[in-house]
Amino acid sequence: MALLPIVHVPDPVLRRVSKPVERVDDELKKFIENMLETMYEAPGIGLAAVQVGEPLRVFTVDCAEREVSERGEESEVPKREPIVFINPKIVATSDERSTYDEGCLSIPDYYADVERPARCTVEYLDLDGKEQVMETEGIMSVCVQHEYDHLNGTLFIDHISKLKRDMVIRKFTKIAKANKTVFIG
Ligand code: NI
Repeated sequence: MALLPIVHVPDPVLRRVSKPVERVDDELKKFIENMLETMYEAPGIGLAAVQVGEPLRVFTVDCAEREVSERGEESEVPKREPIVFINPKIVATSDERSTYDEGCLSIPDYYADVERPARCTVEYLDLDGKEQVMETEGIMSVCVQHEYDHLNGTLFIDHISKLKRDMVIRKFTKIAKANKTVFIG
């Protein structure tokens, strides 16, 4: 297994519309193993393939809560319940909406409230290439909708005000330029 480099805003690959997976084969499974390792290492609760520079319709999610001991302390090591979504399709969303303070591994250390449908139903292929349907709510629903957005080149900052979005993009463009200067010079 290997850690994959995570691309940040304003890398244009994040705006690409990802392509459907044609075959769930060993090569794809190996890539997804690496995605999971990268997501846990980051650490994040969701990662789309395009965030490691592969515009494929795949994302990984792990919204498992940390195990709580009898004394009420959260364990250091969270339970792992990875779910892999291949060629996902959100087929239904609730009218009821909810707001969550979102972040993104491609926009480090920036968080903002995003309002989305509170629940959604997603159809997808699992790692065995089997069709699955999942009804989601709470953090799982937020995560699925956020990652699904990535497959269409949409970022969570597209759901906030233009003023805030422009500020974030300016900040990350400056950082990218500064890094480039250091790298070249
Ligand atoms: Ni994200």
